[in-house]
Amino acid sequence: MTTADALKREAAAAALEMVANGMRLGLGTGSTASWFVRLLAERVAAGLEVVGVPTSEATAALARELGVPLTTLDDVDGLDLTVDGADEFDGELNLVKGGGGALLREKIVAADSARMVVITDESKRVEWLGAFPLPIEVVTFGTGATLRAIRAAAAGLDLSGSLAFRMDSNGNRRVTDQGNWIVDASFRQISAPKALASALSAIPGVVEHGLFIDLASTVIIAGRTGVERIDR
Ligand code: 5RP
Repeated sequence: MTTADALKREAAAAALEMVANGMRLGLGTGSTASWFVRLLAERVAAGLEVVGVPTSEATAALARELGVPLTTLDDVDGLDLTVDGADEFDGELNLVKGGGGALLREKIVAADSARMVVITDESKRVEWLGAFPLPIEVVTFGTGATLRAIRAAAAGLDLSGSLAFRMDSNGNRRVTDQGNWIVDASFRQISAPKALASALSAIPGVVEHGLFIDLASTVIIAGRTGVERIDR
């Protein structure tokens, strides 16, 4: 196992300690979140009773393969805990997410959870969000108008930067699990994340964006000297 994998596993193991019998869980997406699903599956095999709502088709497939029982947000009355990764987090535990393209389902699931625990390592900690290009999920109709509106919203907050459609391995625009496209916005330093989140949410062609404001209740950071936990 690489050092990076060992840290991801360690963060996932710390989050697993917050899981109790009977919980309804949101299951995140990405390499760190997949460690959580693997460790959870071991506990399920040993008798832990939980149900999970996956935030992507990839996570659903992994959970099914490993025997983690799944449900949907239509079949439960909210979730107790969501465990997910992040691309960046700041001192207020605001996040950039969506590097894996699952931001829309991830945000719906996190928002329906009593708590969201984010599992990370030191490389994700930033003073200012934005070095990681901000994923913005857009409908496939009228993208010219949507991109103009994103640029105008950003300019209103003194932000500029390139907007690039995310591509798949075949050179086509990457289609999300919800059938939309993703634009990655290189704003570099987002000094007013709440204002940018509101401005992007107000654009008709924007389905969702990767700024997770006031959603994370805990961030777990695995590092070479141990595991740090920050609660909001
Ligand atoms: C997927 C996400 C992921 O949680 C984020 O990209 C972090 O992934 P990883 O744990 O592989 O670094 O938001 O949409």
